[in-house]
Amino acid sequence: MVYEIYLRSFADGNGDGVGDIAGVRARLPYLRDLGVDAIWLTPWYRSPMADGGYDVADYRDIDPLFGSLGDAEALIIEAHEHGLRVMIDIVPNHCSSQHPLFAAALAAGPGSAERARFWFRAGQGVAGELPPNDWQSMFGGPAWTRVIEPDGSPGEWYLHLFAAEQPDLNWDNPQVRAEFEDILRFWLDRGVDGFRIDVADFLVKDPDLPDAGALPPGVRRPWEDQDGLHEIYRSWRRLIDSYPGNRALLGEMWISPLTRLRPYLLGDQLHTAFNFGFLSAPWEPAALRGAIDTTLESIGAAAPWVLSNHDVYRHVTRYGRADTARIWWATEQVATDLALGTRRARAALLLSLALPGSSYLYQGEELGLWEVEDIPDNLIADPIYERTGHRVRGRDGCRVPLPWQAAAPGFGFGPPDAATPWLPQPAEWRRLAADTQAADPDSMLALYRAALRARATRRGLADDTLTWLESSDGVLAFSRASGFSCVVNLGAEPVPLPPHDELVLASGPLEGSLLPGDTAVWLLATAR
Ligand code: NOJ
Repeated sequence: MVYEIYLRSFADGNGDGVGDIAGVRARLPYLRDLGVDAIWLTPWYRSPMADGGYDVADYRDIDPLFGSLGDAEALIIEAHEHGLRVMIDIVPNHCSSQHPLFAAALAAGPGSAERARFWFRAGQGVAGELPPNDWQSMFGGPAWTRVIEPDGSPGEWYLHLFAAEQPDLNWDNPQVRAEFEDILRFWLDRGVDGFRIDVADFLVKDPDLPDAGALPPGVRRPWEDQDGLHEIYRSWRRLIDSYPGNRALLGEMWISPLTRLRPYLLGDQLHTAFNFGFLSAPWEPAALRGAIDTTLESIGAAAPWVLSNHDVYRHVTRYGRADTARIWWATEQVATDLALGTRRARAALLLSLALPGSSYLYQGEELGLWEVEDIPDNLIADPIYERTGHRVRGRDGCRVPLPWQAAAPGFGFGPPDAATPWLPQPAEWRRLAADTQAADPDSMLALYRAALRARATRRGLADDTLTWLESSDGVLAFSRASGFSCVVNLGAEPVPLPPHDELVLASGPLEGSLLPGDTAVWLLATAR
């Protein structure tokens, strides 16, 4: 059970309105009591924050907004003392345009060894005024930006698959490889237990940089899942395996079909990779079952299940809409039934925690937080907003600072005299504050705690196989070893509960022996 901490929005220790390492340290007991095994921290490195820290200017230091290197070292030690392992984000596809290597590349000019660490190319057109190819940034607009050369003339273009402030590194360059292995060692030496590898599938590019616009959907893009990636992760695996303890490499790869993940997971590269098929599946039995089967076939027992993260609409909101599979990029506001979404989110928790593998919880989902869709325009920080000409508001709605205390200013995100949280919290979150929910046995937080406790006592659930049980339309039912089964009613009508000896947990009230719509249960049949 891994808990994702989006550092800027978790807890503010120093009162500047932005989450930080001190805030995390103060909340370690909360995480321990929640029942997670590990935390994953989004980037804490020195960064101009053009993309919330995914634009790294120094991989060996902490941004002053978050604290100091000493704070990070203390956090790792204290987390371990609480029995929590620590994963950190590593961002190898790109760095910040303010990274010294990029500054050196700009200064050194065309044809230099410094530029060879990135993807600099001459432009097309009569005077190089057009980008080198048709690649588009994941955040909107072209994936190339033209530079002004040291002599003041318009010059080469550089590749950035994300924002212009995030130049792509050239992983064909041995110095780039050596630099990152050294960075991994730097953090392994400080005790981190693993890395979540940001856009792990994008590092290697087809060196011909062919146009991609005309490729049919589903065909591998020239920047994703290239053969050369395997050698990089083999060498990372050798490196991480040379350290004591079971340390892990987790790839963030939005690869489809999921079977393409298999070659990375053969034991000599990544330990596991996110499976986003489950997160993107609609709230429908056949689609969810399909996503579960494909994941287990492709990733097996190392499957990480995710319902939300800092890049997608929170699932309380997703599941409360007509299109439950819409995870991002909406350009207009859609009607949301938050009560329905919350009921489904409760059921989805029991569903996902009953599956083989591991689970990644995104901060605030244990409080049932929803996507905030009315952030004032002038406060939107996600680069997607600017890069889409303000058409897409981006991901800030799932990054709003957490409500800890109902009665405190800023809902206790920071100390009593703290600056206002960097994004405004909805007033209705008062009733979702962690302290209020901790006292309510029917709250989302209570359900998370109970479910994590129940799962922790059944470690076999992580590894044992899953067997689908016959069930009526609209119902997902499967058993695991030791008589444990999970039944989810995704329909609107109540259905009879299958025979059982013990009800371990229900996501909502039952109607006698009937399981109401959008409700899940964990059942136990004692061996006879
Ligand atoms: C994936 C991260 O999760 C996202 O937040 C970031 O914007 C991109 N990678 C680029 O680093």
